Amino acid sequence: MRLAVALLSSTLLLTANAASASGADYIRAYGAQGVNLWRLANRERIKERHISQRPALVVQDNSNIVFKADTEESNEFPDQWFTQPIDHFSNSSDTFKQRYWINTRHYTPGSGGPVIVLDGGETSGEDRIPFLDTGIVEILAKATGGVGVVLEHRYYGKSVPVPDFSTDNLRWLNNDQAAADSARFMSNVTFPGIHEDLTAPNTPWIYYGGSYAGARAAHMKILYPDLVYGAIASSGVTHATLSNWEYYEIIRNAANHTCARQLEHATLAIDALLGVPYAKRYLKSLFGLEDLAHDDDFISVLETPLGYWQAKVWDPAVGSTKFDQFCAFLDKPILGNDSVSSLPVGHEDRLVHLPGGIELDFSILNYAQYIKENFVSQCDTSVEDCFGTYNDSNFLATGLDQEWRLWLFQVCTEWGFFSTAPPDPAYPRIVSKLLTLEYSSKICRQAYPAGKHFVVPPMPNITAVNALGDFAIAADRLAIIDGEVDPWRPCTPHSDYAADREDTILQPFKIIPNAVHHYDEYGLKNISNEPKDIRKIHGEMIVFVMEWLKGFKAPSSR
Ligand SMILES: *[C@@H]1O[C@H](CO)[C@@H](O)[C@H](O)[C@H]1NC(C)=O
Ligand SMILES: *[C@@H]1O[C@H](CO)[C@@H](O)[C@H](O)[C@H]1NC(C)=O
Ligand SMILES: *[C@@H]1O[C@H](CO)[C@@H](O)[C@H](O)[C@H]1NC(C)=O
Ligand SMILES: *[C@@H]1O[C@H](CO)[C@@H](O)[C@H](O)[C@H]1NC(C)=O
Ligand SMILES: *[C@@H]1O[C@H](CO)[C@@H](O)[C@H](O)[C@H]1NC(C)=O
Ligand SMILES: *[C@@H]1O[C@H](CO)[C@@H](O)[C@H](O)[C@H]1NC(C)=O
Ligand SMILES: *[C@@H]1O[C@H](CO)[C@@H](O)[C@H](O)[C@H]1NC(C)=O
Repeated sequence: MRLAVALLSSTLLLTANAASASGADYIRAYGAQGVNLWRLANRERIKERHISQRPALVVQDNSNIVFKADTEESNEFPDQWFTQPIDHFSNSSDTFKQRYWINTRHYTPGSGGPVIVLDGGETSGEDRIPFLDTGIVEILAKATGGVGVVLEHRYYGKSVPVPDFSTDNLRWLNNDQAAADSARFMSNVTFPGIHEDLTAPNTPWIYYGGSYAGARAAHMKILYPDLVYGAIASSGVTHATLSNWEYYEIIRNAANHTCARQLEHATLAIDALLGVPYAKRYLKSLFGLEDLAHDDDFISVLETPLGYWQAKVWDPAVGSTKFDQFCAFLDKPILGNDSVSSLPVGHEDRLVHLPGGIELDFSILNYAQYIKENFVSQCDTSVEDCFGTYNDSNFLATGLDQEWRLWLFQVCTEWGFFSTAPPDPAYPRIVSKLLTLEYSSKICRQAYPAGKHFVVPPMPNITAVNALGDFAIAADRLAIIDGEVDPWRPCTPHSDYAADREDTILQPFKIIPNAVHHYDEYGLKNISNEPKDIRKIHGEMIVFVMEWLKGFKAPSSR
């Protein structure tokens, strides 16, 4: 009986892994349409979960069940559990179990640390285990002889404190509670198999995070300076914003030149045709979306491939090549004359003549075919069901399988980052002017009806996040590391809006050339085989962490 449970669950774990990562990515770049895409991508898994009945709580209810894992990694890194209060700021005695994993490969008993902890951020902590095995945690643990830890974030993966994701039950998913979890963990944890006390502040803890978790790493250094000896914020989005139009600016400027011009041209042409009543339906039909009622739902499907930029990683074993494939697809010769593709976009020799006197650059027809083949084809009901966002009842399910509700709740309450077109419609752009703040944020008003104990505000209040330092966040032993072509760079201290800073050992401030999102988090077993810029940043990170550790004195001996 137990074996059957274990086998079923480990299959679920593996599929959940892949799906939750893509789910998070969709949601970062989209509003309600992101939920639709999440649902399409997770169709099979949701069906499976319904069969298994009690998904995430299986382990929580009985932490003695040990899942037999079928990969080497998970055998080496079994789940560990730490008890946390659901609410750190009340007298309630309700608790939940927070999951974590440890790497003690390089630890010498009696050496006193350090502990390198990676914050799991807005996804299942399982997605971060590779960083414990060959990524940044392993790299720093190896260099320092420390213990490596991945700490799952409350509400994600199996660290779920509530029976469902209703508005009221999500009220303990916020920055202050999550920071208090980490603080309590650092000051109270005992690691299995290690008998000495490795808690903060008597042991130096280095707190690492990428993306949202990168902002959390920086925040932890500001909020709990006595516990967090050093912190590394990689692609840390310390600047919360409502309208995140600069995200697409990075892509527009960094993408292949031909591809970017084709996207700009397509965007203008599509916006123009949507303003012409007789052309509109025909245009949508090219994309297989003629039955999609709302124009903003239509253009939001068209933005989907832009999300692939963020999925690039220098390591081909984990990075996506879909963005480049999309660009190559746009350029596919369909006119029977290959040499027209070297002509400027919109040139008359590149035009395809369509009924009703409509003339479109051939790259727009390719764009339409791409959307049809890759997204519309996934839909086995009506396109309004799959890609419409105006039926509120599609966003009201609150079961634990509706994982999209988590990060979106954080977006809707404290973080923002809504995808929008540039404020000036005349500004060069690769997203339709119909992608407005109102459209991208309407999911916040649809998905979280007011509860008895909590009400999601109409727009997030981003003041508290930015009050912790925003672009200027800084502290000794807080490292800021970003990617040059990361679409999130505009929300980090390396934004073009931020003041430049000196890069020092005590306050490292580093940009990785040609890098996208938290590229330093990934690593190879043998770091000498990494590409030059990644080897370089890893070398620098080892150096500053070792230098920091030289200055450590436990408070008891100060
Ligand atoms: C917790 O209990 C203490 C003592 O009973 C009380 O003074 C305090 O106000 C309570 N705090 C909260 C948040 O309820
Ligand atoms: C550590 O745990 C104790 C109770 O077990 C608690 O009183 C204390 O506040 C915890 N430390 C932190 C920093 O949360
Ligand atoms: C950009 O894309 C075009 C067409 O797809 C291709 O011919 C060109 O080599 C690419 N440029 C670079 C710098 O990769
Ligand atoms: C192909 O396109 C090029 C560029 O527009 C043009 O010069 C050439 O005549 C075309 N060839 C044919 C066979 O149409
Ligand atoms: C809205 O969606 C629900 C199911 O999610 C469906 O039953 C209902 O018919 C839809 N309403 C409209 C107007 O399409
Ligand atoms: C937003 O949050 C800040 C600080 O957390 C608070 O002072 C302010 O009153 C809030 N604003 C609104 C409109 O609720
Ligand atoms: C790591 O790779 C380098 C360069 O390929 C090689 O010289 C070295 O022997 C490798 N180290 C190990 C431990 O495999």
